[in-house]
Amino acid sequence: MKHYKLSDFGQKMTTESGILQLMDDLGNAMNGVVEPIAMFGGGNPAIIPEVTDAFKSRLHQISKDPESLAAMLGTYDTPQGNSAFIESVVEYFSGHFETKLLPENVAITSGSQTGFFMLFNMLAGSSGNSRRKILFPLVPEYVGYSDQLAEHEMITSTRPIITKIDQHEFKYSIDFDQLDIDENTGAICVSRPTNPSGNVVSTEEVKRLQKIARERDIPLVIDNAYGAPFPGVIVDDDFVEFDGNTVFSYSLSKVGLPGSRTGIFVGPPELIRSLSKLNAIVSLSSPNFGQYLVTDLLITKEIDRLSQDYIQPFYADRRRVAMEYIEMYFDKSLPWRLHTYQGSYFFWLWLEGSVIGSKELYARLKEKGVLVVPGEYFFAGQDSSAWPHARECVRLNFARPDHELENGMKILGQTIAAAYRP
Ligand SMILES: Cc1ncc(COP(=O)(O)O)c(C=O)c1O
Repeated sequence: MKHYKLSDFGQKMTTESGILQLMDDLGNAMNGVVEPIAMFGGGNPAIIPEVTDAFKSRLHQISKDPESLAAMLGTYDTPQGNSAFIESVVEYFSGHFETKLLPENVAITSGSQTGFFMLFNMLAGSSGNSRRKILFPLVPEYVGYSDQLAEHEMITSTRPIITKIDQHEFKYSIDFDQLDIDENTGAICVSRPTNPSGNVVSTEEVKRLQKIARERDIPLVIDNAYGAPFPGVIVDDDFVEFDGNTVFSYSLSKVGLPGSRTGIFVGPPELIRSLSKLNAIVSLSSPNFGQYLVTDLLITKEIDRLSQDYIQPFYADRRRVAMEYIEMYFDKSLPWRLHTYQGSYFFWLWLEGSVIGSKELYARLKEKGVLVVPGEYFFAGQDSSAWPHARECVRLNFARPDHELENGMKILGQTIAAAYRP
């Protein structure tokens, strides 16, 4: 086998990270290499028939109109995005925010993941004599950000305040006194609700972060992949206003179109322009498919109806059933805790004081056909060997069919009990 010499960038991006291995593992389990009993691992949105039907009928309309079809399939749009889609985003979000948006506030990327890659690498990395970094004000945070930086050690993070609630619940909040912020911080980023914990950074916390970011002339980035307004899988959403310095990202993926690769970024024009310029270099333009499919759904607000009538009830129902089995199969005398559910498609389970770490728990569960994601990967910027909490959590995707939830929670309950036995 040939060994080509890779650049520092090439090496940084391709060296086997734990998460790459894990994703392979989860993918292989799906492909039947291991017979899964419960797939609590992946983060894919569920397929909801009524939502798929709505996309199907839009696709049908487009395919009946030769001009639209030719435009959707046969054109490169501008690097910023399709102008009709951007207009629909402006109109839709101008009803959502109090501030009126303009087209220069919006850029479309091929999935929000690619958008984050571009944004993070514009804002963090070597800059003259300094090395600028992205700050996660609260970890655990979305694992997909952690390997995105072209240079090493470009993420810093702050451990949260952990509040224990009753016997089996806990909640994170931002520890503002410990915020690891200085003149080398290039941006602050939170997902809201957070993947993996389902935590929602409160409006008060967001306002404090917005103020800090404005004072330091750096952007605050809020990732709304699961949040408001669509798919809106968020409990008691506290409204957050566009203050001219915050970048809000949205994704069509969690509404059911991950294959369309459509990320939407709303933010200050200077940054949005830079994002579009970089998009031209990386992608020429972003995929048309999702933009064409969803333009009318934004104009008519049909996307809100789909979210409220089908997507939100679907996840609420899966969550309810998953909770029933947790109640049934988890030993109440053990000190396990779930993070307060405030949104997202996940439960975040903390096994405080368990005798095995989450990687060992993952391996034991996998042998029994239950796939979860070990928590260690979600603590970017932290040394997990120095912080037991970072080795004591796992993420569970609860949006699975009844039989998987029942069989999976049963095995999980037994494995947790074993994890507390010395
Ligand atoms: C919090 C969060 N942000 C961003 C993404 C990326 O989504 P996409 O690139 O499909 O828009 C995901 C995907 O799982 C996510 O969970």
